[in-house]
Amino acid sequence: MNDPNGLIQWGELYHLFYQHNPAGPFHDRIQWGHAVSVDLVHWEDWPIALVPTGGGPDEDGCWSGCAVDQDGVPTLVYTGYDPQTVCLATSADGLRTWQKHAGNPVLARPPAGLDTGTPYNLRDPYVWREGKTWYMLLASKIVGIGGSVLLYRSDDLVNWTYLHPLLVGDMAETEPFWTGTEWECPNFFPLGDKHVLVVSVKKDGHDPSALLHVVQFTGTYRDQRFTAETQSLLDYGSCYYAPQVMRDAQGRALVWGWLWEERGEPAVRSAGWAGVMSVPRVLDLRPGGGLTIRPVDELQALRGAGRVFQDVTLTATSANPLAEVQGDCLELLVEFGDGDAAEFGIDVRCSPDRQEYTRIAYDRAQDRVTLDRAQSSTSPDVRRDERSAPVKRAAGEALTLRVFLDRSVIEVYVNDRVCLTSRVYPAREDSLGVQLFARGGRVTVERVAAWPMRAIW
Ligand code: FRU
Repeated sequence: MNDPNGLIQWGELYHLFYQHNPAGPFHDRIQWGHAVSVDLVHWEDWPIALVPTGGGPDEDGCWSGCAVDQDGVPTLVYTGYDPQTVCLATSADGLRTWQKHAGNPVLARPPAGLDTGTPYNLRDPYVWREGKTWYMLLASKIVGIGGSVLLYRSDDLVNWTYLHPLLVGDMAETEPFWTGTEWECPNFFPLGDKHVLVVSVKKDGHDPSALLHVVQFTGTYRDQRFTAETQSLLDYGSCYYAPQVMRDAQGRALVWGWLWEERGEPAVRSAGWAGVMSVPRVLDLRPGGGLTIRPVDELQALRGAGRVFQDVTLTATSANPLAEVQGDCLELLVEFGDGDAAEFGIDVRCSPDRQEYTRIAYDRAQDRVTLDRAQSSTSPDVRRDERSAPVKRAAGEALTLRVFLDRSVIEVYVNDRVCLTSRVYPAREDSLGVQLFARGGRVTVERVAAWPMRAIW
């Protein structure tokens, strides 16, 4: 699988569609897989929703898109490939089977006068309604300038009028991070009194290293114009991409991202599968700007018998309070308190002799959290670079790390606002240990909790 698509809550069910190649763990002639859940935790596979139609505009792939409620008719708005076009499909049986619109594609070719590359780039429709009018964003690029999202309007989802770019990136700007040369998978939604635009950013090229990261812009939307005020990465790890956001019946903005593989092609082929979804996360607006990002509370249903420790002081020579905790499916919560340690954090997936371990470390002087995979695996065939994120701690603010381990997946949440997600592939079966650490002084741990996570199956 790759991108999440068509997220929608319909009646009792959350629907998660996704880019899927049933033929093997590689990207080719993509279909729409489909899973449903009542609780965001346990999922059931439904039949494949969209398959390319020979001779049709989607004959080389049903690429990414969204789902909308068209006055009671569930409607998928997706990318036909190749070339990239906008196509529609509707369901008359409660989202189980899908009928493609006879007039597909409903939109082909970029607006005249805009150089979006050769072949052109125009994909991943994101649709919403304001009053009676539908609006759509398409991801694109403007050659020589940067990534872009183009805004369209329609009265019927079929006839679309181009308005203007909602935002154009500047490929010459690399601070605080590069926004690449091309954008994919836009999302645009109100949050509190602001609007948030999320785009996945890539550079030119087709190999996996062209996919960079996910940027969120928070700002103001008025008269179909968006002014970005703050920006950050939605995830500072190494494998989170193409997220999609949906609003659920409780009013939550839920987001799933695709986590790609970070081991070599031969290992992926022999595993027989590639790609997973992140856990669902809830986005909120932070007072003062930016977003909070938290895993959904529903995940607590998977917690087994936990161990909790309180008021532990850590130094370079302390015993490890989590010596008894073992596992590769765990939730860990560590609330650090006062102290002067230069660096502290938590090592996971540790072998007993520490030949393998993955470090999650907070550096006090730099005020950054790092996810360091240098020692994650003795296998030569894995990515081992480190990733780090600015925390921007307020004076007196504590540091809380919440970590989800699910086999090769590590999701780190720092103070409910900074995420780092990466994949690790320890070669040893006994790389299951967890260790708290501090260097260059002491730090108190107000509370640490560790829960084994039950399977969702
Ligand atoms: C992002 C993406 C989308 C495209 C889909 C194809 O990962 O490249 O832009 O629609 O994947 O599978």
